[in-house]
Amino acid sequence: MRLLACFLSTIFVVSAYKSYDGYQVITSRTVTLRDLSEPRRLENDPEYIFWARPAVGRPLHVMTSQISIGKLWSELEHLNLAPSVYIEDVGPVLAKADEKRQKLMDIPLNRAVSFDRYMTLQEILDYTAEVVQNYPLHSSLLELGTTYEGNPLRAVKVSNGPGKRGIFLDAGTHAREHITHPLALKAIFELVENYDQNKALVDLFDWYILPVANPDGYNYTFNEDRFWRKNRSPNVGSDCVGTDPNRNYDINWGIDGDANPCSEAYRGVAAFSEAESSAIGSALRDIENNGGLALYMSTHCYGTFLIYPWGFTYEFPVTYDELAKAANLTATAIEAVNGTRFVIGSSANVYFPAVGASMDYAYAVGNNNTYSYTWELPAGGEFGFAPLPEDILPIVSETWEGIKALANYVNTQVLK
Ligand SMILES: *[C@@H]1O[C@H](CO)[C@@H](O)[C@H](O)[C@H]1NC(C)=O
Ligand SMILES: *[C@@H]1O[C@H](CO)[C@@H](O)[C@H](O)[C@H]1NC(C)=O
Ligand SMILES: *[C@@H]1O[C@H](CO)[C@@H](O)[C@H](O)[C@H]1NC(C)=O
Ligand SMILES: *[C@@H]1O[C@H](CO)[C@@H](O)[C@H](O)[C@H]1NC(C)=O
Ligand SMILES: [Zn+2]
Repeated sequence: MRLLACFLSTIFVVSAYKSYDGYQVITSRTVTLRDLSEPRRLENDPEYIFWARPAVGRPLHVMTSQISIGKLWSELEHLNLAPSVYIEDVGPVLAKADEKRQKLMDIPLNRAVSFDRYMTLQEILDYTAEVVQNYPLHSSLLELGTTYEGNPLRAVKVSNGPGKRGIFLDAGTHAREHITHPLALKAIFELVENYDQNKALVDLFDWYILPVANPDGYNYTFNEDRFWRKNRSPNVGSDCVGTDPNRNYDINWGIDGDANPCSEAYRGVAAFSEAESSAIGSALRDIENNGGLALYMSTHCYGTFLIYPWGFTYEFPVTYDELAKAANLTATAIEAVNGTRFVIGSSANVYFPAVGASMDYAYAVGNNNTYSYTWELPAGGEFGFAPLPEDILPIVSETWEGIKALANYVNTQVLK
């Protein structure tokens, strides 16, 4: 079997991917609250690609090229973070994952959903179009906008009658975070195709699910660069492409944030300068103005965190106790499935501070009493942002149990 795998890998080496040969992933000791701010400085260096951002209670995972390993190593030593090698050479690891992906691609999906592999942008667009055609009584498409490359920001709305509060879930704001897209597809599958079993959830809320919040970037991770994070819009006066849509929302934009177009977390030239953030922002305001935005969820990876506002400040939001209570019962529901433990807390305090994020924006749009969350889904290991195909279904299934518990809880609250 092993021999066969080796043999196949020599056939499938032809890849248009950007090479990560010689790139290493460096890890560190566990980060504490006390030293959280120091490693954050390193995030501004475009040479460092953070697989795992600085967060309390876990080590860093930072990828960098051969040329910058020495510099990164000494910076981490200087910060007393005890660097060590996590992945010796990313190149072959990526080649192995890509080979597996190419093989799985041979199985045609025929416009059906799949959790056996990561679906391409075109496959996801085809599936969403098909599913609403098959279930027109309780589902429809909402084209929220169009990206720089002309791809649709296509959400599925699930509704069985007027006058309900809304739940919005988006996936893949960061292009490379591939485990998030199947989570959104799981939500669509359960609410639309598996409607008979989940009708109660649609009786309670209108659901808006955007499975690819950054389609240009997502497509780019399939064809050009597996570790691309931002969107693909060009930047005037710079050769570096892309803005981080999750630093571009019109919420405290400009008080902080990365102004370097070459950075992975570039905030853009102005609040809502990007098609992706501006379209989602507009959809959130519409939902708030038509029945109310009860629950907002943005899905990312990786970390196994469920975090809530604020991201822009260490101060707690007014509904902190409620957000924490709901997060706790969500994490408890997930742990009951198979033992996966999510860390919960306010973004700036347990994860990292960030200005211009969708979670803060949604919370503010809902007058500071929307249940607003960012999910950092489990991933990691040698495949970084995309767990092995066989791990997709376990991860999205347990997370879906958490989302159901959260929606049911939000329904019992009269906050909104
Ligand atoms: C994805 O990218 C490829 C290669 O650049 C391009 O040919 C294709 O049209 C893109 N697909 C979509 C749906 O944008
Ligand atoms: C939820 O609350 C219970 C009771 O206070 C606590 O034991 C548990 O650790 C909390 N879970 C999380 C994920 O914080
Ligand atoms: C929401 O909270 C922020 C930060 O505390 C505050 O500036 C803002 O006025 C609040 N908005 C509302 C509608 O209460
Ligand atoms: C449960 O967790 C174990 C250990 O992480 C894993 O091997 C297994 O596949 C998981 N099973 C399901 C059904 O999620
Ligand atoms: Zn992300």
